[in-house]
Amino acid sequence: MEKKFKRTTVTSALPYANGPVHIGHLAGVYVPADIYVRYLRLKDEEVLFVGGSDEHGVPVTQRARKEGITPQDVVDRYHNIIKESFKEFGISFDVYSRTTSEEHHKFASDFFRKLYDEGKLVEQSTMQFYDEKTGKFLTDRDVVGECPYCHKQAYGNQCEEGCGRALEPTELINPRSKETGETPVLRETKNWYLPLNEYQQWLKEWILEGHKEWRPNVYGQCKSWLDMDLQPRAMTRDLDWGIPVPVEGANGKVLYVWFDAPIGYISNTKELCDNEPERWGSWEKWWQDEDTRLLHFIGKDNIVFHCIIFPTMMKAHGGYVMPDNVPSNEFLNLEDDKISTSRNWAVWLHEYLVDFPGKQDVLRYVLTANAPETKDNNFTWRDFQARNNNELVAVYGNFVNRALVLTHKYFDGKVPACGELTDYDKATIAEFMDVKAEVEKLLDTFKFREAQKEAMNLARIGNKYLADTEPWKLAKTDMERVGTILNLSLQLAANLAIAFEPFLPFSSEKLRGMLGMETFEWNQLGSTDLLAADHQLGKAELLFEKIEDSAIDAQMQRLEDIKKANEAANYKAEPVKPLVSFEDWEKLDIRVGTVLECERVPKMKKLLKFKIADGLADRTIVSGIAEHYAPEELVGKQVLFIANFAPRQFKNGLVSEGMILSAENFDGSLAVTSLLREVKPGSQVV
Ligand code: 2FM
Ligand code: ZN
Repeated sequence: MEKKFKRTTVTSALPYANGPVHIGHLAGVYVPADIYVRYLRLKDEEVLFVGGSDEHGVPVTQRARKEGITPQDVVDRYHNIIKESFKEFGISFDVYSRTTSEEHHKFASDFFRKLYDEGKLVEQSTMQFYDEKTGKFLTDRDVVGECPYCHKQAYGNQCEEGCGRALEPTELINPRSKETGETPVLRETKNWYLPLNEYQQWLKEWILEGHKEWRPNVYGQCKSWLDMDLQPRAMTRDLDWGIPVPVEGANGKVLYVWFDAPIGYISNTKELCDNEPERWGSWEKWWQDEDTRLLHFIGKDNIVFHCIIFPTMMKAHGGYVMPDNVPSNEFLNLEDDKISTSRNWAVWLHEYLVDFPGKQDVLRYVLTANAPETKDNNFTWRDFQARNNNELVAVYGNFVNRALVLTHKYFDGKVPACGELTDYDKATIAEFMDVKAEVEKLLDTFKFREAQKEAMNLARIGNKYLADTEPWKLAKTDMERVGTILNLSLQLAANLAIAFEPFLPFSSEKLRGMLGMETFEWNQLGSTDLLAADHQLGKAELLFEKIEDSAIDAQMQRLEDIKKANEAANYKAEPVKPLVSFEDWEKLDIRVGTVLECERVPKMKKLLKFKIADGLADRTIVSGIAEHYAPEELVGKQVLFIANFAPRQFKNGLVSEGMILSAENFDGSLAVTSLLREVKPGSQVV
């Protein structure tokens, strides 16, 4: 039988404070976690939502190095940007702290020390890559090279661009230091390891036997780890950014970021509880009481850390509850391409807020509608526009607006009394009463996208009801009937405000204001007496507004520009062709010609026809550059052409007596060659 818990601790992955957050973060972790927490709160359950920034780790030091600032500068900047973005999007953390805080350093340090003192860690000397140029050991992510499995470029800890496998840096083919490009050497170093192998049997029983209900992607990843022999994993690193290892003789070593970051969930809880003990009680209650249900919301690249390593750390320490579920999402792509911070291929939340002010719920809605719950999914701006215009505006907003405007028109904004119900009314009520159970079932099993769809069904029911009953036509003859229809419609609108609160909190708040709702609880869902007769409604305003093509075109253009910039940055010249002899070179007669005339060729959109003065006569040359030059741009210019090119006939009969030389840019655009100084037409290129 399923265990009944008294309270729930919800954690959401601590984002690295080495850059701002984007839609992938929101879709994968924070919106689903927030939906769930809001749902529990609406049900009046005891819940704690923990967030924070992950401020250690190599990505932070890499960014600092790139910008020539300190790691602390980096995390100070991004912690604030990230925190603000989450707040703007209504991610309702109870605490959002950071892993550079003093409290966290102490907590993580003590946690480590306890494991160390109790002999739960294994000391091991290994050979590790060392960059002789900088005199530093290289962390896994500081080493790059070729993945031995898929042969793409990979980091020493993971093949991110390719097959996704976890790697050891020594497995890489042709390893190099990311910072200096030097080939690193192996040197001996001592570190402390968590002997995952000793916990393998327990992990197998706990997850593979005890948690078959976990999402298939999570369970499957755990199974593939647990089917292999787990190896001890280093919990310390030779690095200067992080929490110093609290052990004699460990100078120059810090705790592994994946050791300290999840402890951040606990230390952040402690910080909150210490600040507001009356409200939150003790931190132990949220982490060590067996009546507490622990849930980790994460992205798929974090599964092993939250299902295997962190639970093993807590088990080794003792006293902690284990996660009851780890709802992990797959990845969200952007316009069919992997979201990437380094390629700037992302929709950044702080930029979205500037481009679409006040439209946080639209993004929340679209990201949930496309949530990558079972497989990677795709965000496109056209879909964003369509879902806003065809669903939020045309279905939800339209229904609510009609119900309110009609009530203002016919009843001065006072909720009319509900008269006798027809069979059709009763059938409609029965339909929307089912929604509560359905949404609950879906939310309880973390199926957020289906749950939101179901909530939207309420609005569809409402729209259909108004369209079928046509109260505006009855207004002259049967005001009592109009009153009943509008009463039911308003009750339905009030239901919508509740059902959508976890998903679209800003719109629910607005709708709640328009309806003047006093109480607001999940348990009221499905009832038809949320608004009493004669209750005065607030002003009717639009809940959502249409998004025009121009706004979407601007976003598409931005992505297009980014793509071009990336292509330019990645452009590599073609390899040089095989050598040719001087005799071969002499066979080509390249000359200078002056363009006398230049015109487009009818029905051939790529071609321009030139009349060229070549010093002997005039000749006709046809060249495929019409998409890159207007004909008049070239008249009077000197160009280079191959004078002894065998004449070539085009489909329409035109014959080209030579070839004009152009250079092809990385993006396929062509630039005609020209001279730095004018010469006589017919001069040879030597
Ligand atoms: O993948 C990441 O972005 C990590 N910073 C997540 C850490 S989750 C937790 F352990 F703190
Ligand atoms: Zn690979």
